[in-house]
Amino acid sequence: MRSILSAIEERLDESTARGLANAVSRAIRDGVLVPDTKLPPIRQVAVELSLSPTTVSAGWTLLARSGAIVTDGRRGTTVADPAPPGAVRYRKALGRQTVFSLDLSTGVPDAALLPNLAGAFADLTTAGTPLTYLDDPVLPGLAEALRDQWPYRPQQLTIVDGAMDALDQVTRSLLRFGDRVLVEHPCFPALVDLVESTGVEVVGIPMDAEGLSPDRLAEALRLPAAAVFLQPRAHNPTGVSMTRERAEVLAELVAGTDTIVIEDDSAGAIASTPAISLGEWLPEQTVHIRSFSKSHGPDLRLAALSAPDQLMQRLLARRQLGQGWSSRVLQRILLSLLTDPGSIAEVDRARETYAQRRHALSVALRARGVEVNGADGINLWLPVEDETAAIVRLASRGIGAAPGAPFTLLPEPGGHLRVTCGLVDAGFEELAEELAVAATTGSWQGL
Ligand SMILES: Cc1ncc(COP(=O)(O)O)c(C=O)c1O
Repeated sequence: MRSILSAIEERLDESTARGLANAVSRAIRDGVLVPDTKLPPIRQVAVELSLSPTTVSAGWTLLARSGAIVTDGRRGTTVADPAPPGAVRYRKALGRQTVFSLDLSTGVPDAALLPNLAGAFADLTTAGTPLTYLDDPVLPGLAEALRDQWPYRPQQLTIVDGAMDALDQVTRSLLRFGDRVLVEHPCFPALVDLVESTGVEVVGIPMDAEGLSPDRLAEALRLPAAAVFLQPRAHNPTGVSMTRERAEVLAELVAGTDTIVIEDDSAGAIASTPAISLGEWLPEQTVHIRSFSKSHGPDLRLAALSAPDQLMQRLLARRQLGQGWSSRVLQRILLSLLTDPGSIAEVDRARETYAQRRHALSVALRARGVEVNGADGINLWLPVEDETAAIVRLASRGIGAAPGAPFTLLPEPGGHLRVTCGLVDAGFEELAEELAVAATTGSWQGL
């Protein structure tokens, strides 16, 4: 234990929680503290390094959040394996071995409702091939088409490889270890995994039928927050779309703070409600992302991203050191799909079909006493008495659904399942019956 404490002490240049966290991080990076090394108890560290136990405990919290150390009741606190934690929530939500006859756990669009690419392929040429690796990363015609459809006048707009890529790039350019970050509760699990991987403190803010709760956001903003992430419409998992009134109220709360709003419009053109953004009121504090995965195809891997000047410059400069730009060949396919009348009609039809499917299942559930919040997009957030019992019950009937726990950040009574209702094209009454039974299936209590 003495050598561990000396290694930390040698690197301690500030008697604060962050100073301690930095010292331990440096000792890990220098190879002095190797994975699985047991750290001394908080009290001993405090005495030996002349720090208060509160400071040590806060330092340990920072390190645990960044994944540098792990605390396990019996084993105590140890140096973590450097393999990144990765998509922990995401895998819990979507990882599965069972093959279902009706798999509604996936959150993916119906392949039959994606626009046909034949016309876009037929029109492809090599025109617009970049002359240098530092050319503007966006196809000019595509930027114009998107600006016309954008929910506010963006300062800067670019194209990236899907909404996840956008969230990753914004996270890397904006967030620092120890930042406070506000996210919706419930939330898309991959986003929580992503921001947690940077060592930020994640705070869940409840939602209601119109979006983020203004009262709870106001409360959370009493302390500085680097960012608030939200999904403006067809929220995954709940299907809630933010109203314009709510967007204005939330913008008023964020105005005057240093908080950046990051909006993930992942449903894009298949959402039934109009595009909405706090950028209408706060263009200098808003990042707006629109994915084309659900509307035009997940394998196009494209999303558009708007951001204030400075943040965009940082993001593009960083991106030049990586993949640089999203393939212009794919951008030309997207531009064709966004402007060709036949492709536009196909996406319109998909949007209407998803709305009809969702409506049919919601009505059939209501007739069985199950009320669901939210009315947009391809996912439905089914309240259940017991998540595990409901998942097992549905699996026994050949139906897959995603457990709600990985989506949630705050404790709540009962649980939920995320059901990708956008994939259901028939048998709404039968499915509603199965879901209603699963919703009330309790855990086995014994006799
Ligand atoms: C809320 C949300 N954000 C991002 C994504 C990923 O989008 P993309 O395929 O554009 O990376 C998804 C996919 O389901 C999603 O639901």
